[in-house]
Amino acid sequence: MSTATKPIIARLPVYQFASRWTMSEAPRACAVLGIETSCDETAAAVVRRHPSGLAEIVSETLLSQVEDHRPYQGVVPEIAARAHLEHLDGLIDRTMTEAGLTFRDLDAIAATAGPGLIGGVMVGATTGKAIAAATGKPFVAVNHLEGHALSVRMTDDVAFPYLLLLVSGGHCQLLLVRGVGHYSKLGATIDDAVGEAFDKVARFLDLGYPGGPAVETAAARAGDPDRFSLPRPLRGRTGCNFSFSGLKTAVFNHIRALDRLPSPAEADDMAAAFQKAVVDVLLERTRAGLSMARTEEPHLAALVVAGGVAANRPIRTALKSLATEEGIVLVAPPIRYCTDNAAMIAWTGAERLARGMTDSLDFAPRPRWPLDSLKNSA
Ligand code: KG4
Ligand code: ZN
Repeated sequence: MSTATKPIIARLPVYQFASRWTMSEAPRACAVLGIETSCDETAAAVVRRHPSGLAEIVSETLLSQVEDHRPYQGVVPEIAARAHLEHLDGLIDRTMTEAGLTFRDLDAIAATAGPGLIGGVMVGATTGKAIAAATGKPFVAVNHLEGHALSVRMTDDVAFPYLLLLVSGGHCQLLLVRGVGHYSKLGATIDDAVGEAFDKVARFLDLGYPGGPAVETAAARAGDPDRFSLPRPLRGRTGCNFSFSGLKTAVFNHIRALDRLPSPAEADDMAAAFQKAVVDVLLERTRAGLSMARTEEPHLAALVVAGGVAANRPIRTALKSLATEEGIVLVAPPIRYCTDNAAMIAWTGAERLARGMTDSLDFAPRPRWPLDSLKNSA
């Protein structure tokens, strides 16, 4: 098994990993347009998947709605849906122009069809279907979580099966990834998602919006991360479920006990204590998940972390140490492919297309869509 970084060609200057990609592979590559609108990022990308499995990000555009939602300290579904509607066509246009392609040059159109905020999902999925209908190209209805689950195969050379820790604003799950469309859930949160806990704690501490990065920044400034003692929910329990609501409530109770707004130094220390507790919980539960996964798949290729919270550096560092201890490699996508993006949707569309897994134009967008309910790869 190899985990070398895969070559990616991106029009954006940061990811120019083209050195190992050979032109001779280009003619048989499939180009897929990906559309992402499930939360507060409007995004489009064209990705080519080469027969060898190499990924080439031909072009990508992303418009964050963070400023639209900041006054409300959270994503407002109606505002999100309206903003997707307003900007998506223009972004697709720019993405295609930057790719130097027309719709007719594409092999498929992939759009997030759930789970997520249904208004936004409908905007993206309907747009994707309309392009597919107008051009006669295949349509792939992508599960957003599968996008996160497979993003690592776009950026790195990771073989199946692997254990995936999926940590985002709406999810916290450990999944055994056996193939495209082939996922077994080993454990999940029984209450809040981990990203949601980060966002709420940031609100309690008045650290700013979006919450996850704000907590990470505050924690990095902390003078005394042990000043507040916080619980480690479900520690020592069998299985690998997660719980974060008790941790969130404990932060809230500490603040209430102060009987005043926390000082900036107290807020930083609390952020650090919270982040440390999250790291401990994720490590313990992931260790349990690894041992469960290995009983089913003794030749596990890697531990993979994906989703928005995987952008958190202390979490990545701690998981790397865990992986080393467990004699397995940790693979995490580059930070900008941890948070929502359209390249992972285009890539998932290409992985599905390569296996003949396309969808009909009457596919109904869905707000809930568990990953372990997907049909297996052909
Ligand atoms: O995957 P994502 O972009 O959207 C969803 O599908 O949910 O994840 C967003 C979540 C938010 O809760 C955000 O606060 C969290 O990921 N997040 C972080 C960091 N960056 C984003 N949490 C902790 N540390 C970060 N650096
Ligand atoms: Zn996401």
